[in-house]
Amino acid sequence: MTVIEDVTGLVAVVTGGASGIGRGIAQRLVERGAQVVIADIEEGPLEAAAEEIGAVGIRTDVTDAASVQALADQVVERFGKVHLVFNNAGVAPESRIADMTLADWRWILDVNLDGVVHGVHAFLPLLKRHGEPAYLVNTSSMGGFVADMPGLGAYATTKFAVMGLTEALAHELRREGSNVGAAVLAPGTVRSNIARSLRTRPSGPEGSALVQNDISEDPELAQLRWLDPVDVGDVVLAGLARGETHIVTHPEWYPMVGERAARIEAAFGRAAD
Ligand SMILES: NC(=O)c1ccc[n+]([C@@H]2O[C@H](COP(=O)([O-])OP(=O)(O)OC[C@H]3O[C@@H](n4cnc5c(N)ncnc54)[C@H](O)[C@@H]3O)[C@@H](O)[C@H]2O)c1
Repeated sequence: MTVIEDVTGLVAVVTGGASGIGRGIAQRLVERGAQVVIADIEEGPLEAAAEEIGAVGIRTDVTDAASVQALADQVVERFGKVHLVFNNAGVAPESRIADMTLADWRWILDVNLDGVVHGVHAFLPLLKRHGEPAYLVNTSSMGGFVADMPGLGAYATTKFAVMGLTEALAHELRREGSNVGAAVLAPGTVRSNIARSLRTRPSGPEGSALVQNDISEDPELAQLRWLDPVDVGDVVLAGLARGETHIVTHPEWYPMVGERAARIEAAFGRAAD
């Protein structure tokens, strides 16, 4: 089992690192002595974040495989190797599935799923190549465990996919005794700019069913435990030190997962009757 207890001197790459959770993870990595590259589509916030936290910023569009490959090439050129990769960039616009256009589907699949696929494809060989302990962390969500959240059906589709991809990868890596571990990060509510995801949609809102809804403004949901992004950084680093495959930020939310498992168990039971 791969564990990373000390990140001092390690080289890390965080996509979506200009804001929110990615920035929080990057900040904690820098504070603990890692050499950190943040990659993001938003140029201004990327430059500002890189300067503020002491990281290197490389503009990257995770929907574009060539852009992610260029990121990987630049990281190796600059640092020689890479040990930690966080495929974290993501968007969470809302719509009922029935109302979504194909362009709406395309964008959310491109960022949340293809973005992770591109990151795994470009970086996994580099993580393996040096043979030192390394980790790949893909950001899913609680929406990767449970799909019944209003307006977030397409989001859950992508986050279930990231969960499956990462569990499968972790299994493969363990079986081959790899130096690389893989984990899926499933955050609950975290203060970030995710409620403004539509800002990065290239084609704009024209003809789209997608809307933004800041759930932190909903009085009921405001009562939930909202983490600061740097707290997620701490949770992630603790997870890597334990060699986890699933890293969760809100352990108190397990009953939601248990209820889904119980519904599936009941269906298996009925099929066996
Ligand atoms: N905030 C939460 O409560 C929460 C909960 C569960 C999961 N997540 C997940 O955490 C991840 C980070 O989200 P966040 O909440 O920090 O949101 P955020 O909007 O603050 O940060 C997301 C970053 O991704 C970048 N990005 C978007 N499209 C991109 C692209 N094509 N290429 C490169 N970068 C791109 C954005 O510019 C932004 O800097 C996402 O995958 C999200 O689904 C967030």
